[in-house]
Amino acid sequence: SAAEKGGYDYFMLKEIAEQPKAVADTLLGRIDAGGSLTLDEVRIDDSELREIDKVVIVACGTAFHAGMIAKYAIEHWTRLPCEVELASEFRYRDPILGGQSLVIAISQSGETMDTLMALRHAREQGSRVLAICNTNGSTIPRESDAVLYTHAGPEVAVASTKAFLTQLVACYLVALYLGQVRGTKWGDEIRAVIRDLSGISAAVDRVLETMEPVRALARSLADKDTVLFLGRHVGYPVALEGALKLKELAYMHAEGFAAGELKHGPIALIEEDLPVVVLVPSPRGRSVLHDKIVSNIQEIRARGARTIVIAEEGDEAVAPYADHLVRIPATPTLLQPLVATVPLQVFACELATARGNEVDQPRNLAKSVTVE
Ligand code: G6P
Repeated sequence: SAAEKGGYDYFMLKEIAEQPKAVADTLLGRIDAGGSLTLDEVRIDDSELREIDKVVIVACGTAFHAGMIAKYAIEHWTRLPCEVELASEFRYRDPILGGQSLVIAISQSGETMDTLMALRHAREQGSRVLAICNTNGSTIPRESDAVLYTHAGPEVAVASTKAFLTQLVACYLVALYLGQVRGTKWGDEIRAVIRDLSGISAAVDRVLETMEPVRALARSLADKDTVLFLGRHVGYPVALEGALKLKELAYMHAEGFAAGELKHGPIALIEEDLPVVVLVPSPRGRSVLHDKIVSNIQEIRARGARTIVIAEEGDEAVAPYADHLVRIPATPTLLQPLVATVPLQVFACELATARGNEVDQPRNLAKSVTVE
């Protein structure tokens, strides 16, 4: 009913709008007054966490994209090797796991069969399993050694939005916590990022307030057949997530690429007026990535692409090459997906609406895939 949708036409719109709160709720009570993380719910002893020699993340769909982003954060802040794998592939390739592997299973519903089977396999190998889950008491957390719940609240729309943002928050918390417990040379950066996380909810809110031009752009592209997405570093999984949203909702051909691979194939797809969404890393921090993306944008634009550029406020270098410029607040590089994903969700939702599609219940898809 309309009341259940909180006055919005679709659950998806409501859930997109709830993201600032979902992010804040997922941080709530997990940062102490001294600015350190307290994840008491992670009932794996610190001594055991210090012994871990590898992290393996398993998930499906949107949760898998959260896992891909987590890998960048975990490897950077903990210096532990981290693999991330589709749950449906993981179990069938005889993965190398042991008592010192920490397996992280990410699932909104906690009922995805492939993810459940992957975690059972991991436990049989003697690995510890930590679930990141949005549904209290569901099967995946019940079968795990520990669980860090995301506090997105119930997600009804089939296409995941607020659950994804909270999965990212949970992944950052785990990465930072492992860094904190194990002690790395990034101690100061870890403390700074914990502070930055507290400002993310407001940053997501700011993005939501500026989405009207993105909606107008989406409507103008309703008769296109293909949209490409380019990103690198943590922007690469964001590109994959933007493409997934468009497939799920708009039933369009959409593909995400690592921008560094452009010359190895994707550039052959560029033709006059093809919409290409480009995620631009912060010009601060790892600025070498920024400069590489700017030259990618020039390359595709020279070949006629219509460039839709998602870039940090104050990044002037991209402006001359952007047919459409979408501004997002400045964040540390690793946290950028929390703000960069939001315009892609709005874009896909509006395109689906413009194409007359059922936003909350896309054809052929289920909210939770409980069969293999
Ligand atoms: C289905 C949903 C997706 C979701 C995926 C994984 O495909 O439509 O939105 O990302 O399952 O679901 P989970 O509940 O395990 O996160």
